Parts: sequence; structure tokens; C-alpha cells
Amino acid sequence: VMAEKAGYKHFMLKEIYEQPRAIVDTFRSVLDLSAFEVFFPEAHLDRELLSKIDRVFLVACGTSFHAALVGKYMLEKLCRVPVEVDLASEFRYRDPILDERCLLLVISQSGETADTRAALVEGVQKGAHCRAIVNVLGSSLARMAQGVIYTHAGPEIGVASTKAFTTQLVALFLLSIYWATKIGTISSESRREALQHLLELPRKMDELLNDGGVIQHWAKRYVHVTDFLYLARGILFPIALEGALKLKEISYIHAEGYAAGEMKHGPIALIDENMPVVVLLRKGELYEKMISNVQEVLARDGQILALVEGAKDPKIGPLELQLEIPETCEWLAPVLFVVPLQLLAYHIAVMRGTDVDQPRNLAKSVTVE
Ligand code: AGP
Repeated sequence: VMAEKAGYKHFMLKEIYEQPRAIVDTFRSVLDLSAFEVFFPEAHLDRELLSKIDRVFLVACGTSFHAALVGKYMLEKLCRVPVEVDLASEFRYRDPILDERCLLLVISQSGETADTRAALVEGVQKGAHCRAIVNVLGSSLARMAQGVIYTHAGPEIGVASTKAFTTQLVALFLLSIYWATKIGTISSESRREALQHLLELPRKMDELLNDGGVIQHWAKRYVHVTDFLYLARGILFPIALEGALKLKEISYIHAEGYAAGEMKHGPIALIDENMPVVVLLRKGELYEKMISNVQEVLARDGQILALVEGAKDPKIGPLELQLEIPETCEWLAPVLFVVPLQLLAYHIAVMRGTDVDQPRNLAKSVTVE
């Protein structure tokens, strides 16, 4: 078993460290570097079809649902097509309004999740165009969909999804670029720039993984708390949800992810000196607003753990726990920000002595309702 884990203590840790490789494998097969173009032959999404689509539904469960939430930001901004994101377990029972102008895209690591399969069946019955982003070749969803985009994460054994998630984000990014190119909502210059960021991503991820010691220090400090709050805005909001899910799943600590703008609508009442608050900050239009949220937490003696894109910013003030995230474009920032959150959950879980790869009550794929 140790050999299978390639010297890592757990599959989850091995899979976290495999992410730079998994990302390269996911883009290598669909990227033509000489022309800086993306190709998805197995997706069956040609220009004619894409220009007819006026609504997209991204449907999934759990971590794959968080990837879908990120996908909405990318597809709406890059392709100007309206996107609805749904949990498969809700979508399948709410008689969704679908027709031949809709694209239903289900997202799944295993390709076997019961609710996601039922969502796809619903889409096919209602005449929507149905596609799947899946990791497992030949899985049910891969066979049922009318076209597939594969993530090439390789087998994911740990129940807590890590490399499947980051490769889903990359697949959604590539799809958005591909789609925008086909319908003409992106210039070739912007496309080249975006793809250049993608090529630099694995190296930046390696940098973050080599910084793992910082996160171990954070983990040690918060190993005994009972609650955690994760705050972010914009395209990083789903990463707050994902960070909280990772922590819940493997450390059994109660954690919530929130859109930072919602803080005043409830969760701020939870903040006191015992509440660690993880904040995700990237430069851009929402930066100042995140800084205000940080100040609101500090004013109530909450403890800030900050992931900050780029070099230290004096405006944030003297934060004790701050980790620098390498700079990239908006679309790919989620792929980097999630890595320290995976490591934080992992190290806390290990220190608490839980069964990291097979947490209690959970199954790797939920094939029955
Ligand atoms: C993630 O850490 C979970 N174990 C879980 O939420 C998972 O993402 C969900 O069950 C969906 O699985 P799928 O991607 O195989 O469909």
C-alpha cells in the first residue's frame, strides 16, 4: 500500500501533490500551442451549435458543484451566455425548463453519482444538448452524455476530492476559451494571454506546494477549534465553499463558506476571539471590499488567516497569518487558492487523528440516493 502512495502518508496528500502534473495532462491533449487554440473533438460542440445555445445549466454534486459555480463566472464573462448552476439532487426534481436551445453540462469525477446521472437523463428527455465533464473513462456519465470532456487527473482514491477539482476548473476554463473563440467573444490576443497564464500555472502550483510548511504551522495553531469561517468574493467565493467542505469532510470541524458580502446578513454574529476566519484576497475590483471585511472581522477580535495574491500589501495591515499566492489571471486564481485550503484541511485532520482517506460516513462515489 505504501508503494501505491509513492511514499506519501495518505492518498489525499499524494493527490494534492499530483495536481501540477494532472493539470498539464488535462490541457496537453486539447491545446494546440503553435496556434494557441483549444480543441475538444469528443465534446461535439461545433460553432453552429454553440451560437444557437442561449442558456447553460451546470449541474453536479459536492466538490464538482463548486467547480460548476466557478464555471458560471468563466462562461458568463468570457462567452456572455447566461448560466444556471444547480445541485443535481435539486435539478432532477424541480421539473427544470429545458429545450433544444439549452446546454446541460454535468460535472463529475466518478461519472457514477446517482443524482448527476438522473439530472442527465432529465436533460436528454427534455431535448437539451447534454455533455459531461468527467474523470473516469467509460463511466456511466461518459457513456450517457452526447459528448465528453475528460479531466486527466488519473485515479483519485482519497474520498476528499482534490486533483479532480482543480482539473475540472482547468477543463471549464479551456471550454470557456474554446466557446468564446467559436462565437467571437474573445480576441486572439486575450486568448493567447489567458492560455499563457495556463501554461505557467503548474509551476506556480509547485511553488505553493513547496510552501507547505506555513500551512502546517496554521494547522497546529487551530487544530482544537470547533468552527471555521471561509470568506471570499467573486470567482473565489466557490473556493471558500470548497475550503469549508474539505475541512468538514476530513477533520470533522464545523466550517462554513460565505460570500463576504453576506457577512453582515448573519455570519458576523458568530465572530469572536475564538473564530478563525480564512479570507481569500486577490487584486482586482473586489479587493477593497474584501479589505473592509477583514477589518470588520479584526474589529470583533476574530482571527484572520489570509491568502493574498501577489506581494504583501501594507494596506492589509500587520496580519499575523498571511500566505502569498502567486499571481495569475482571474479565471485561474481559483486553481491556486484552493491548494493551501486542501493542505490546511489535510494537516488539521492528520493532527486530529482522523481517517483522512476514508472519513467516517462518507463514500467515494454516491451511487445511490
Ligand atoms: C468531495 O470531497 C466529496 N467527497 C464529494 O462532495 C464529491 O465531490 C461528490 O460526491 C461528487 O462526486 P462526483 O464528482 O464523483 O460526481
